[in-house]
Amino acid sequence: MSNGITLVLGATGKTGRRVAARLRLRGTPVRAASRSSGTRFDWSDPGSWDAALRGAAAVYVVAPRVPGPVHEFVARAEAAGVRRLVLLSGRGADTWGDSPFGLDMRSAEDAVRGSALEWTVLRPSNFAQNFDEDVFHAPLVAGELALPAGAVPEPFIDVEDVADAAAAVLTETGRHAGRTYELTGPRALTFGEAVELISRAAGRPIAYRRISPAEYAATLVAAGVSEDDAHHVAEMFVLMERGLIAATTDDLTAVLGRAAGTFEDYVVRAAAAGAWRR
Ligand SMILES: NC(=O)c1ccc[n+]([C@@H]2O[C@H](COP(=O)([O-])OP(=O)(O)OC[C@H]3O[C@@H](n4cnc5c(N)ncnc54)[C@H](OP(=O)(O)O)[C@@H]3O)[C@@H](O)[C@H]2O)c1
Repeated sequence: MSNGITLVLGATGKTGRRVAARLRLRGTPVRAASRSSGTRFDWSDPGSWDAALRGAAAVYVVAPRVPGPVHEFVARAEAAGVRRLVLLSGRGADTWGDSPFGLDMRSAEDAVRGSALEWTVLRPSNFAQNFDEDVFHAPLVAGELALPAGAVPEPFIDVEDVADAAAAVLTETGRHAGRTYELTGPRALTFGEAVELISRAAGRPIAYRRISPAEYAATLVAAGVSEDDAHHVAEMFVLMERGLIAATTDDLTAVLGRAAGTFEDYVVRAAAAGAWRR
């Protein structure tokens, strides 16, 4: 398996670029793909898929935000001779009942599980790196993060751990086939506690404030996010408040044979790199 090409989707994203680097270091040939990567791959343009799949033995799948396309993609992967699929899904993908949130992840999981290929599903918790590489970053730099999250804690996972797990599952033979791994950090903490740690390590006051889901959606729209995406993200917080994905698991240790990194490890690294400097 390690001699074939691994197609890495979402290759410019938080997990994809880290997965690609790990595979290259292991000597696995990588084809890095996304709309803006060397290999152009666009979920909304099926005409871009076959060239990306040609000669690939394995695929790291970062699914689109809409349900559906992964079914056709899996059929194309089978036809192209791919042998292994590793899907990045999300914690709680099967716990949201009738909520539209997570439909994209559930659809992608169904597609991968229904394939004749060797597949593995990774279901990570919220990424620690959302605080310095994604939507929480700008508010933290501005001095206040306001979210619809209160006392229910979240076992944030370090994306470096997600990438280590993905690289292992993509390259190790056999033992991960047909498995779904719920990947979490070692300890759950509230968003208020997370921001407190960031503020201390950054050496400047940064506040956390709880707001309503509607207020949060309005904030996102004001920041340029589409109405649909804003309501989608706000809905995620409503669901998280049910506490269904707040527990930690040992799955990362089962995959890697070591403990997951702590949120404090992540905060120290990001603060030292200047992530939250004003
Ligand atoms: N953030 C979290 O806390 C969290 C937790 C659990 C699971 N997840 C899952 O992680 C996934 C996102 O992965 P990530 O954080 O590694 O990526 P990311 O940092 O959100 O970046 C998105 C990647 O997808 C590519 N992309 C965007 N639109 C595309 C399209 N239409 N066609 C092809 N590629 C496209 C982007 O590159 P281009 O712009 O070049 O196309 C980029 O490489 C989501 O499915 C989410 O559900 C996230």
